[in-house]
Amino acid sequence: MSSAGSEPWPEWPIYRLDELTDPDARGFYVGKGDWPFRGFVVRQGQSIFAYANVCPHRRHPLDFLPNAFLVENGNLIRCASHGALFDSETGLCVSGPCQGESLMKLVSRLDSAGTIFVTAPASLRDAGPIIGSGFNVQSEADSDTN
Ligand code: FES
Repeated sequence: MSSAGSEPWPEWPIYRLDELTDPDARGFYVGKGDWPFRGFVVRQGQSIFAYANVCPHRRHPLDFLPNAFLVENGNLIRCASHGALFDSETGLCVSGPCQGESLMKLVSRLDSAGTIFVTAPASLRDAGPIIGSGFNVQSEADSDTN
């Protein structure tokens, strides 16, 4: 899962499984500067799911308060902006203004030592058009040159 024509995204150790309760979700970011890549991991039992922290409705982060992603006993992810609900396992929006669209799922794995790894770019800018055709990251510096 990488943007067209670029290097494959690296894999990052994000959390240890025992840092999360069950169920639980925790945000993370990789990279530095103005455009780190922001995502979150969901734990359900021994299963881990990871997503970009970008809502397909208006591209807002889903958690208004840090790590406040889950509702309904962890079965659903809620976007705090307009209340869209997503299935925790698939990322599919099941209710709300972007029903039928999906969160961007990230490749994740749990190793034998209990470390959660996620494959993601080091910058949101390197993620490309990650969700929907209207998602283009542009900095103020880029705008000055146009
Ligand atoms: S930005 Fe998520 S529901 Fe509107």
